[in-house]
Amino acid sequence: MVQISALRLLRRPGTRGVSLLEYSTPRHYSSSPLRARDDARDARAFFTTPIFYVNAAPHIGHLYSALLADALCRHRRLRVPSASATRFSTGTDEHGLKIQQAAAAAGLAPTELCDRVSAQFQQLFREAGISSTDFIRTTEVRHRIAVQHFWGLLKARGLLYKGLYEGWYCASEECFLPEAKVTRQPSSSGNSCPVSLESGHPVVWTKEENYIFRLSQFREPLQQWLRGDPQAITPEPFHHAVLQWLEEELPDLSVSRRSSHLHWGIPVPGDDSQTIYVWLDALVNYLTVIGYPNAEFKSWWPTTSHIIGKDILKFHAIYWPALLLGAGMSPPHRIYVHSHWTVCGQKMSKSLGNVVDPRTCLDRYTVDGFRYFLLRQGVPNWDCDYYDEKVVKLLDSELADALGGLLNRCTANRINPSGTYPVFCTTCFPSEPGLVGPSVRAQAEDYALVSAVATLPKQVADHYDNFQIYKALEAVSSCVRQTNGFVQRHAPWKLNWESPVDAPWLGTVLHVALECLRVFGTLLQPVTPSLADKLLSRLGVSATERGLGELCFLPRFYGHPCPFEGRRLGPETGLLFPRLDQSRAWLVKAHRT
Ligand code: MSP
Repeated sequence: MVQISALRLLRRPGTRGVSLLEYSTPRHYSSSPLRARDDARDARAFFTTPIFYVNAAPHIGHLYSALLADALCRHRRLRVPSASATRFSTGTDEHGLKIQQAAAAAGLAPTELCDRVSAQFQQLFREAGISSTDFIRTTEVRHRIAVQHFWGLLKARGLLYKGLYEGWYCASEECFLPEAKVTRQPSSSGNSCPVSLESGHPVVWTKEENYIFRLSQFREPLQQWLRGDPQAITPEPFHHAVLQWLEEELPDLSVSRRSSHLHWGIPVPGDDSQTIYVWLDALVNYLTVIGYPNAEFKSWWPTTSHIIGKDILKFHAIYWPALLLGAGMSPPHRIYVHSHWTVCGQKMSKSLGNVVDPRTCLDRYTVDGFRYFLLRQGVPNWDCDYYDEKVVKLLDSELADALGGLLNRCTANRINPSGTYPVFCTTCFPSEPGLVGPSVRAQAEDYALVSAVATLPKQVADHYDNFQIYKALEAVSSCVRQTNGFVQRHAPWKLNWESPVDAPWLGTVLHVALECLRVFGTLLQPVTPSLADKLLSRLGVSATERGLGELCFLPRFYGHPCPFEGRRLGPETGLLFPRLDQSRAWLVKAHRT
């Protein structure tokens, strides 16, 4: 028997080293933006959210993780519309000590707690428009089969051994912590109790015989993988952080618990006295949902992008790729990492009583409003602070006033009485800037607008590729402001449809503004699907004209026919996004507290 510690490896069992070259290299799908022509296999993409613990109800941080994945996935579908090209999974993480203890504390059987909270996540995600193609629960039979198969592979490849493992275990984080990550905190009884330095949750010294995974063998292959693929973990600071961690010693990892201590989990195949470690169990969900161990998973696995919070980076960027390499698979294609939401400057926690309920937010701000807020304000590289006034200010200014106002200005009956997409006049707005002539009306700023909106889809795609969705929305919002400036500059309400001098220019101003709106509506679909639908329907854009492949901005300017010119606008359906009423009771209350 080998005795190892989470803090110090007492004996490193000698086995052959593992080279990254022994494993298949990932076949990346093309990430070149706006390509709708990739062949069917290369067009595939598989997005995942973390699976969520069911010890407590969902909060806005969980919703944020799911929304980021949803927006990436929806943007991908706009590029490659084939329904079978994209898969997107989410779900609940239902095993482990944390859930076992939460159920006991609530006086419930674990299955009861899991059913109850998993249903809350499913309902929230349905309401929030999370367009997942699979929702997995780790208590499902298909998952047990996948986990036990995966375990069998690691065992057969000589990567698991039995040893005595000891260290501080934090049930809340479901992991062993090194001494340096443990501190002492005074308890109510006056004694000091050991807690996790990062989370403040209690830790318990644990010493037991477990199955241990030869993680230490994978330090070099992991370094090779990350050095060879600088975009594997995005944004870059997280990639860098993982490489830094890999500079340190990488001890072997305990991957089971005594069943007498942890019964709520998947038994180790052939050894009922041990339960599989919840993180190994949970990570395999990403394979379960693509059919593992059936061969179909092989065509999806190389296209996998994980979306995760920064707190679970080590599990996804070190343990998981090492386990995959151990089982003869490639590491995930991409790991996109985001930071956390705090509330009024504080970490969100049940004990502080400051947890923000996402369903209340969806009710107050509408589904599209709240999706827009979280994705527009959430910055992956650092934490963001939540408070109600911020939501109201952002939505009123960007969705109600700027975007809604622009649509209203170009479609209102008094300005566009024919209710059509007016004709673009090439002599008023020639494609070559700087021309002079009696009918030329376009100014330098107008060319700047056309150029900004023409390059917007590519810019947005690049931001999605770099997992900077907030920058994509910032770019759209800046173009909306520019378009409002264009309309303001030319004041179409002062032009007269009856005048042969004004009419061509009036039509052109509206045509350009509607074309800009069509681009904004198309690009906003991944973030605000209903609002974008309302906008595009009002413009008369049909369902088959909403993909990125079809998005050809202002073709008349470039000398091509425009399919929308002269077309009837869609029916008037009221304000695009009503201003949030400042006098609502909840807002007054939020101001007071
Ligand atoms: N069950 C594990 C994940 C297993 S994946 C194989 C877990 N669950 S969790 O419910 O604690 O967290 C799920 C996701 O929510 C993580 O990405 C985490 O970063 C995210 N968030 C939890 N709190 C958050 C905030 N306050 N803000 C933003 N995201 C947060 O970890």
